[in-house]
Amino acid sequence: MASDRLSIALVGATGMVAAPAHMNGLQAAPNASLYAVCDVDDERVSELGEQVGAKAFTSFDEVLADPNVDAVDLVTPPFLHAAQTIAAARAGKHVYCEKPMAHSLAEADAMIAAHREAGTILMIGESYVFHRPIVVARKAIEQGEIGIVTHIRETKGPWLMRDEESDRLSGRSHEASAPWRIDSKLSGGGQFPWTMDHAPHFFATARYLASASPGSNSTNIDSITAHSQTGETPSRRIPGTGGPTGQAITNVAWSFDNGVNSSWNQIESGDDAVARIGFQVQIHGSGGSLFVFGEGGGTPPGRPQVAAVTLHKEGVSQVVDEADPSDRVWLSNNNYYDASHQDALEHWIDSILAGTPVRYSGEDGRLELAATLATIMSAEEKRTVAPVDVPAEWTAY
Ligand SMILES: NC(=O)c1ccc[n+]([C@@H]2O[C@H](COP(=O)([O-])OP(=O)(O)OC[C@H]3O[C@@H](n4cnc5c(N)ncnc54)[C@H](O)[C@@H]3O)[C@@H](O)[C@H]2O)c1
Repeated sequence: MASDRLSIALVGATGMVAAPAHMNGLQAAPNASLYAVCDVDDERVSELGEQVGAKAFTSFDEVLADPNVDAVDLVTPPFLHAAQTIAAARAGKHVYCEKPMAHSLAEADAMIAAHREAGTILMIGESYVFHRPIVVARKAIEQGEIGIVTHIRETKGPWLMRDEESDRLSGRSHEASAPWRIDSKLSGGGQFPWTMDHAPHFFATARYLASASPGSNSTNIDSITAHSQTGETPSRRIPGTGGPTGQAITNVAWSFDNGVNSSWNQIESGDDAVARIGFQVQIHGSGGSLFVFGEGGGTPPGRPQVAAVTLHKEGVSQVVDEADPSDRVWLSNNNYYDASHQDALEHWIDSILAGTPVRYSGEDGRLELAATLATIMSAEEKRTVAPVDVPAEWTAY
């Protein structure tokens, strides 16, 4: 490294959803300089470059050819991740690649191998394992606060957007703002595009928490059973399109080989209940339980407020982490959307500079990708699927 600061190019920089969080994170990172922005949208990327004082590129190849670029932060759609991550490794650039890392395990393997061979660092952008309440909950588990973890229950209601975020997106949802996300092939999710985009988060969260259980040394997933529902899916109704397919995976159950069993449920109930759900994680152990609110979790203003993390133990409930209402994106009293991206990016930058391993590597991303593909296969084929049985070349479309 030429200096003690990392010179970074943000790629997919004019994107509407993840890019603003990455821009905020990179601009705030003490050990990095935002050297370049890159996007295929010529006009918008020039404007953005001027606005943030960075060199503007429309060609990713030209970014890779620029010797001033140490590392690239990819917030491009997933169908580009494999090719861009591999090309960057060959050009000697470190990579932060947003989840889902690829469409197939073969692609993921090639991405990991390219960086191993180049000696560059690949980190997958899994913001949930940097989400502050989730990190706090993991520490409590490591400290033995709830004993041996036995069950993890994740429940997701529709996220509620802040007015400012809604105005920024002209009233569109995140799905409608980035239409590849609901396309069978471009998303990589076949019949279940939304699952391809979201399942890496819930598998990563559960594995991060399950692996903190005292004495646990392995958290591979043995098997996964997923159920889908057809019909009205209010949380995924896309304005103007009527929804991705009218079909959604709403229930997933799996077991880790350290004995923790886990599930995720999408709640499609009415407005009143929805406002009290957000993203909740309950972690139950031999000595107590932790209730955690993750991304978009908690309650909107005017509703009874909840703490971000509560420990229930020996008949007493104790707040372990208060809520933080300051987030930019979701309408909730504890949220941390930008903060989790910022923490993840700073960790990537500092790990590269220090030469230490990243906490969410390509191998980690591959585990969640295998689980996500197994989930889709399970729902399609109506059977239980082991992630190790997903063929390397298999895609969901
Ligand atoms: N961790 C999280 O919480 C989180 C949240 C949102 C999105 N994401 C992930 O971030 C990624 C981007 O999602 P998004 O919703 O922001 O997408 P988006 O469609 O809003 O943005 C993608 C951008 O990439 C640009 N692009 C396309 N092809 C390009 C190329 N060849 N070179 C350079 N730029 C190119 C597009 O013009 C667009 O501006 C996805 O993988 C998504 O899953 C993660």
